Amino acid sequence: MSSVLLRAQNIARSYAVHRSPWAKSSIIQAVSDVTLSVGRAETLGIVGESGSGKSTTGRLLLGLEPVTGGSVAFDDKPLPTIGSSDWKRLRTRMQMIYQDPLAALDRRLPISIQMREPLEIHRIGSPREREARVGDLLRAVGLSEEVARRYPHELSGGQRQRAVLARALTTKPDLLICDEPVSALDVSIQAQVVNLLSDLQRELGLSIIFISHDLRVVRQISHRIAVMYLGRIVEEGDADDLFAHPSHPYTRALVSAAPVPGKKLAGRIMLKGEPPSPANRPTGCAFHPRCAFAIDRCRSEMPPLADVGPSRKAACHLAGALPAASDASSKAVGGSIGSPVSLSEQIS
Ligand SMILES: Nc1ncnc2c1ncn2[C@@H]1O[C@H](COP(=O)(O)OP(=O)(O)O)[C@@H](O)[C@H]1O
Ligand SMILES: [Mg+2]
Repeated sequence: MSSVLLRAQNIARSYAVHRSPWAKSSIIQAVSDVTLSVGRAETLGIVGESGSGKSTTGRLLLGLEPVTGGSVAFDDKPLPTIGSSDWKRLRTRMQMIYQDPLAALDRRLPISIQMREPLEIHRIGSPREREARVGDLLRAVGLSEEVARRYPHELSGGQRQRAVLARALTTKPDLLICDEPVSALDVSIQAQVVNLLSDLQRELGLSIIFISHDLRVVRQISHRIAVMYLGRIVEEGDADDLFAHPSHPYTRALVSAAPVPGKKLAGRIMLKGEPPSPANRPTGCAFHPRCAFAIDRCRSEMPPLADVGPSRKAACHLAGALPAASDASSKAVGGSIGSPVSLSEQIS
């Protein structure tokens, strides 16, 4: 059994978009050449600004939509065709958690009833075993039997997301893909749900792909982190290493906006402007129009994702030649992304 559970090799996804009925359609490259893997019992964080291709990547990894290039393998086997019986079987081992728990739940049914549904659909266990499993999972996510008898609209946002999580776990999945699972929750509740996910990951040996625009949240839970910019991974590696020595100027800017509690940040890189549209991708390195370090080569030549250390890769022509992160403020450009407080500080 390989230690890798899910592997994506050079996956891509493009969409044809029609701006108006008479205009020619243009192609949006939402995801390009993304290679990543998640190990058993490992949490991989995917972070980047809105529109960077995180959700599309999540859907491709789960096989919810087909890739337009590359391939995905789960447990060393290519993902079966969407909708096939093999795919449906596999889906019990891979579950998705979305931002909006209310949309994921059936409003007409109490929580405990809809938690049994996946077990009934897939004919897992006897009625008594299903009942016991639902009870165990409710306890595991910190919901009482009394709460489980209620309808989704009678629960708080945090309780709903716990219920969604409990339901996703009924089929004993190996992998959870969580797409902005806490972004709609109050900050104090965010920390609780992230901690719960972390505990479940450890106790159940789950693999998790945790997608968020918020590096602070991603950092709390991830063993490894992939940073996406305009559909590509620009930096990837061990979470602690990536935070301590971010190589790509974009990662540095994200890290600057998410300081580690108790550690003084010597230099901050501010991100200016919005990311460009994937329909209008800048030449060379797509980050160059926002990068304070860009040289001519960055405007013309796309940097490959290359090793910058034993556990990390970055796609930057200047990785290794940039000033140390703490000196970077001398190169910072205008605009401010504020000074967010860490999750752990917010709940203490
Ligand atoms: N079904 C679709 N049709 C057309 N464009 C899409 C579709 N899904 C996503 N996109 C575009 O692909 C890009 C990446 O989107 P998405 O994966 O949702 O990013 P993120 O989750 O990082 O915010 C965006 O520019 C988005 O508008
Ligand atoms: Mg998204």
